[in-house]
Amino acid sequence: MNITFRQLTVFEAVANCLSFTQAAQTLHLSQPAVSMQIKQLEENVGLPLFEKLGRQSYLTEAGREMHHYCRSIAGQLDELEEVLEHIKGIQRGRLDISVASTANYFATRLLAAFSRKYEGTTFSLDVTNRETLLRQLELNEKDLVIMGKPPEERDLEATVFMDNPLVVIAAPGHPLAKEKNLKLEALQEETFVVRESGSGTRIAMQRFFAEHDVQLSTGMEMTSNEAIKQAVEADLGLGIVSIHTLELELEAGRLVVLDIKEFPILRHWYVVQRQGKRLSPVAQAFKDFVINEVI
Ligand code: PGA
Repeated sequence: MNITFRQLTVFEAVANCLSFTQAAQTLHLSQPAVSMQIKQLEENVGLPLFEKLGRQSYLTEAGREMHHYCRSIAGQLDELEEVLEHIKGIQRGRLDISVASTANYFATRLLAAFSRKYEGTTFSLDVTNRETLLRQLELNEKDLVIMGKPPEERDLEATVFMDNPLVVIAAPGHPLAKEKNLKLEALQEETFVVRESGSGTRIAMQRFFAEHDVQLSTGMEMTSNEAIKQAVEADLGLGIVSIHTLELELEAGRLVVLDIKEFPILRHWYVVQRQGKRLSPVAQAFKDFVINEVI
């Protein structure tokens, strides 16, 4: 079957009004041109699609089937047009997001993959700690935020999309580095380099040790994961960071993850927005991308 789009359009116009003359007027064609298209279509399918009784045209059984499929093709085309318009809307858009300092280790890769999918989108990415992220959400400054679980009592909509395991790190020469199945109590003798208050990692760590009734001695406080890793490498103490921050150091053998029974502390990453916020097409597409395509 070698049907053309043009033949289907003409057929649908005739089938809708059951008149070649009226269809010709609607399509701004001559009546013979309409008849020619229908004749070619009938030759292509090998069946008559119309029959004439007196002056009135009727659809044959094959014609009725053809009409049914024509309608669904037209419906699909409308849908396709909408989808393409939606993609154009996304590509024209600018995404304004914030991510937790710890999430930045994968967020840039996510943005790169998203912009490969929707060429033309532009971004503004702010990297900051949990406390600041919550403030930005409250002030409605950002489309979306990627962070650890936000507090229940806030007016926020949070969708989980990935694990965030927190681990204890040490310099490779540290006395605990080679121990297996360490007890939590062994950490009480150690000094920790910790993130600033306001960091999600810090809050999770404090909660975890309080629940396990373990007192930690915290030495230096630092405002970035990079600074913590360097301090730990320089043997200034142990650190607790997300496994997402460690790819390079573990590969290069510059840091080790301690083998402790109760670890990792399992946190999760969420994509968060204010409840009821109407997202722009690009923000909605990014949210769907994060939820559906991140494994
Ligand atoms: P952060 O991480 O420590 O970089 O603020 C966010 C979180 O784990 O909630």
